[in-house]
Amino acid sequence: MKTLAFDVYGTLVDPLRMATQLQAIAGGRADALSQLWRNKQLEFAFRRGLMRDYADFDVCTRDALQFALEQFEIGLDEAGIRGLLEQYRALPAFPDAAGGLEQLRDRGIRCLAFSNGTHDSLQAVLGQAGLLPLFDDLVSVDAIKTFKPDPAVYNYLVRRSGARHADCWLVSGNAWDLIGARNAGLNTAWVNRSGSRFDPWGGPPDMEVMDLAQLANSMEAIS
Ligand code: LAC
Repeated sequence: MKTLAFDVYGTLVDPLRMATQLQAIAGGRADALSQLWRNKQLEFAFRRGLMRDYADFDVCTRDALQFALEQFEIGLDEAGIRGLLEQYRALPAFPDAAGGLEQLRDRGIRCLAFSNGTHDSLQAVLGQAGLLPLFDDLVSVDAIKTFKPDPAVYNYLVRRSGARHADCWLVSGNAWDLIGARNAGLNTAWVNRSGSRFDPWGGPPDMEVMDLAQLANSMEAIS
């Protein structure tokens, strides 16, 4: 059975929208602050995976926020930090996400959420964004204590889904994630909303779409 596994942060919900909340403390630097937060969050997760020193993605998110605030020389008390982390659990969905997922489900395609995030944070963020009922399962790397793009994580996804590698697709807006999935033998669909360049290695993905509506149409063509 064809199974689509959706990356969450950067594919279904937009972490860079934290810039809206950061404006109050960073003003015109809010976009840069939110980008640094995101970059460091990923870097910390990748490094922890490589070092085999796992701490969950919530910890990476908090450590990255602390780093970014210090880098921007913004003092924020514990309550302020907790407030931002709470808002991170309510990130908005990309506008095309719900409609695209509904179309895919109507076509009988199984949809899973598959993320470096913890199960609890995935439930919160997808619940707040109204996407939770559209998934058959939530697959968090926390179950095996390492992070994408470790091949172990993609193999865990395939095992847990009960599908064959050849029937499994990773749908992601993140090139590093798509390259990791392809390296583990999965099909890959790149959601390239901003018309970015792909990394100069590890590609191209099997499919490139500009949003989830186009993904739903393209999947119909190959099912
Ligand atoms: C995810 C982020 C890290 O796995 O893209 O959802």
